[in-house]
Amino acid sequence: MTESQTNKETLTVAIGSDHAGFRLKKEINRMLQEEGYSFKDFGTFSEESVDYPDIAIDVAKAVRSGEYQRGILICGTGIGIGIAANKMEGIRAALCHDTFSAKASREHNDANILTMGERIVGPGLARDIAAVWLQTDFAGGRHARRVQKIIDFEKK
Ligand code: RB5
Repeated sequence: MTESQTNKETLTVAIGSDHAGFRLKKEINRMLQEEGYSFKDFGTFSEESVDYPDIAIDVAKAVRSGEYQRGILICGTGIGIGIAANKMEGIRAALCHDTFSAKASREHNDANILTMGERIVGPGLARDIAAVWLQTDFAGGRHARRVQKIIDFEKK
């Protein structure tokens, strides 16, 4: 690995949630702002009910296109929004509710979207999870071979 993928000045983040993740998204937005990340909020912008696949698709497209390097998606559990995002080619969305998984999802799986559930994790831990996830590089090596197998399989 030659180039860091974690430089706050160059890393771009797309974030989105459904209504059930709206409050936690606001908390994560605050962290992104405080830490100086460049990010775009793809909604939703209130607690009015919306369908999580719509938000997942918008954020996943933004990451797949390369316009944003990473995505963060939040719903009630982090499950539905992650399932939806993972249907898109090139997306590796990881549901993480602890910092160990967050770090491993970057080092081992080169996850490009982090998903979390507002009904599962508190704001303090969620901030730490997102911060660790954003600051961890893909380890490459044997992990690159494995991730490549996923990429190859997607194309079949
Ligand atoms: C919404 O009620 C809830 O189903 C959604 O946020 C998410 O948890 C789905 O997986």
